[in-house]
Amino acid sequence: DFGTMIYDPGYYNTAVCKSQITYIDGDRGILEYRGYPIEELAEKSSFLEVGYLLIYGDLPNREQLNVWQTKIMNHTFIHENLISMMKGFRYDAHPMGMLISTMSAMSTFYPDANPSLAGVDIYKNKQLMNKQIFRILGKLPTIAACAYRHRIGRPYNDPLNTFTYTENFLYMLDRLSETNYKPHPTLTRALDKLFIIHADHELNCSTATMRQISSTLVDPYTAVAGAASALYGPLHGGATEAVLRMLEAIGTVENIPNFLSLVKQKKQRLMGFGHRVYKSYDPRAKILKKVTQEIFDLLGMNPLMKIAVELERLALSDSYFIDRQLYPNVDFYSGIIYKSMGFPTDMFPVLFSIPRAAGWLAHWVEGLSDPELRIFRPRQVYLGRRGLTYAPLESRQ
Ligand code: SDX
Repeated sequence: DFGTMIYDPGYYNTAVCKSQITYIDGDRGILEYRGYPIEELAEKSSFLEVGYLLIYGDLPNREQLNVWQTKIMNHTFIHENLISMMKGFRYDAHPMGMLISTMSAMSTFYPDANPSLAGVDIYKNKQLMNKQIFRILGKLPTIAACAYRHRIGRPYNDPLNTFTYTENFLYMLDRLSETNYKPHPTLTRALDKLFIIHADHELNCSTATMRQISSTLVDPYTAVAGAASALYGPLHGGATEAVLRMLEAIGTVENIPNFLSLVKQKKQRLMGFGHRVYKSYDPRAKILKKVTQEIFDLLGMNPLMKIAVELERLALSDSYFIDRQLYPNVDFYSGIIYKSMGFPTDMFPVLFSIPRAAGWLAHWVEGLSDPELRIFRPRQVYLGRRGLTYAPLESRQ
């Protein structure tokens, strides 16, 4: 028995850092990016504009937005050597594993991002930092699309920089041969809203990882790969995939009461419910519930939606969940939307990573611009043994 993790909620909530990026009120279900309510941004803004807001602190004017969009769309191609590397993965490699590995490999392509190689303190050079931001935000959808094409055994598609950011991503996934093909505007707008609401979320596990890794001054590609690794977990960004598998396993509305009793016996977890910060309805889940209707109007109702709505209704009328302040979180409806749009479940954490990279980079910039920048070095509470004497092998039991 090599000892088990000693879990004490008190310790797991202690990581603290000051920030001006995202505000959450978990009791009142409030989420704001740089002071703007998420509901307004989801309705009126675009993902790239929100990315600018998160990273640079306010909404861009027209000229700033044009430069920002042009810079990013000019960085959508990835090096042919990275393409060759991606083609070396198993035919059925999980796309999130491919994304993490390829993002990490990017650190070997851009020595100007690595202080020890470039010999410069990147965090004192705003132009150099912006260049990494353009590259990561520009290339991440291309890596994601290549991972998807790899997964379905099709040739990879080149980006089309004349499209908008989200249009180009959808185009690279399916590039149809018909001339003048353009992704359906309803799908593009729905995906852009999903990207907006997934862009940042204060000090969630993956963003805390980004802060921790980048506090060592390593390059941002390596730090983003680390943050994406945290997001991959089923209790975090992997939950969307887990929600779909849960709904598919429940199968019918009639099976819901039995499933909920298994949850209450702690034999199952109600994926897509509960949150470390929201002790009320996740405001993003409310927005997504509306987006599902837009998608269903275009593509037809997903049968899993009926199970999800009834599951939510029964859970929210059950004291077990209310007493534990368990409400739908962002992952509860996002998976149904992605599935309805035709994405396979293992693409869900990849779809979470693309927008969350804007949040990770916002925290990267904020963390490195802190004049008191210091390496993250949490302390522990030692509960083990002390003062023992070495016993020779033959004397041990
Ligand atoms: C995301 O941090 C972020 O901001 C994350 C995120 C972001 O944008 O980055 O919002 C994205 O990761 C959303 C969360 C996605 N994960 C899931 O949906 C997985 C299911 N949810 C849980 O595993 C859980 O709710 C967490 C991990 C999200 C939060 O866990 P906590 O805060 O550590 O809560 P806990 O484990 O201390 O639970 C408190 C009680 C326990 O019961 P008791 O021991 O008191 O009897 O609530 C129970 C838990 O068993 N509980 C659940 C449950 N979540 C908590 N019981 C059943 N189903 C659940 N989903």
